[in-house]
Amino acid sequence: MIYLDSAATSFQKPDSVRAAVVRAFAEMSSPGRGGYPAAMRAADMVLECRTELQELFRVQTPEQVVFTMNATHALNIAVKSLVPPEGHAVISGYEHNAVTRPLHALNASVTVARAPLFDPEKTVAAFREAIVPGTDAVICNHVSNVFGYAQPVEEIAALCRERQVPLIIDASQSAGILLLDCRVLGAAFVAMPGHKGLCGPQGTGVLICGESAPLRPLLEGGTGSRSAEQEMPDFLPDRLEAGTQNVPGIAGLLAGVRFVRARGLARICTHERYLAASAAAGLRSVPGVQVFAGEGLFAQTGVLSFRSEKIDPDTLGNRLSQRGIAVRTGLHCAPLAHKTAGTFETGTVRASFSFFNTEAEVFRLVEAVEEILREKS
Ligand code: ALA
Repeated sequence: MIYLDSAATSFQKPDSVRAAVVRAFAEMSSPGRGGYPAAMRAADMVLECRTELQELFRVQTPEQVVFTMNATHALNIAVKSLVPPEGHAVISGYEHNAVTRPLHALNASVTVARAPLFDPEKTVAAFREAIVPGTDAVICNHVSNVFGYAQPVEEIAALCRERQVPLIIDASQSAGILLLDCRVLGAAFVAMPGHKGLCGPQGTGVLICGESAPLRPLLEGGTGSRSAEQEMPDFLPDRLEAGTQNVPGIAGLLAGVRFVRARGLARICTHERYLAASAAAGLRSVPGVQVFAGEGLFAQTGVLSFRSEKIDPDTLGNRLSQRGIAVRTGLHCAPLAHKTAGTFETGTVRASFSFFNTEAEVFRLVEAVEEILREKS
């Protein structure tokens, strides 16, 4: 199989990730639940993973790195910590349902800072206009999961600092690919999955909490600390980590983060960008294909959407699957992004590349799309 769905989950994991998961099963129980060797090995490993993530994202302390089930879980904690019922949030036009559904559940008033694809200046201008006195939070993804658009989060973070509005960054598509320096950004929260660019197993996620962010637990329960009290501990990470940890998952995530740090973000990102740009150039040469690609090197990561008026995205995706090519089609759980880009009625086909993909696989994708469309006409 040619796997081009890394924006959903990275499937080709480093061997070290698999080995770490197996080792955790064999050697580790649960952290914070005992002083015997299996519990201590788990506690040490979990702290090592926090510390690796702290260093990668330049966070002040490892305790600010909280483990979650996935990015959706992390975003729910972040949104519900900052936005009260019927509060006001400003979001980008490219947000995922993991942001818009919690806001809907809160009956929040939402202003969409709508801007054209791959236009960072207009994106910042839209946020500038949308933030008003009383805005409870600004929420923006670093990279669109549909279009790979790398949004200007540094500028948006500066604007939020100037207006003193807390910022939530959804780093689902950038963690392990683009640099985020938490000390500079000053965001209240940065949410991310462990199972995409960080190469960890599914069922892992991370929430980085800013130093003064209000922290509202989504789950209450055992933490192995302050057990006599009924209030959740007021300190991190315990306040947000009730229940038994996903130790095999976090062990795999630790191996994944080490893999990413050893390769280097720049090398990983350059490779993925190069593949997406090659795919964009190839697909643009196929008659009847519309490609959504940004100009310039930094506009986009390794996520690329395209569509054709000759065939609907789901059928095209199925035909690609029959040829052994895995892509994702439709609305990608991000109807707002498709509305903003004008692709809501049709959806798109999305190819998303990882460090493990090759140029030969890009050529095969382009060739396969060409064959399928030729058969249609
Ligand atoms: N949000 C993930 C995707 O874009 C699952 O496919």
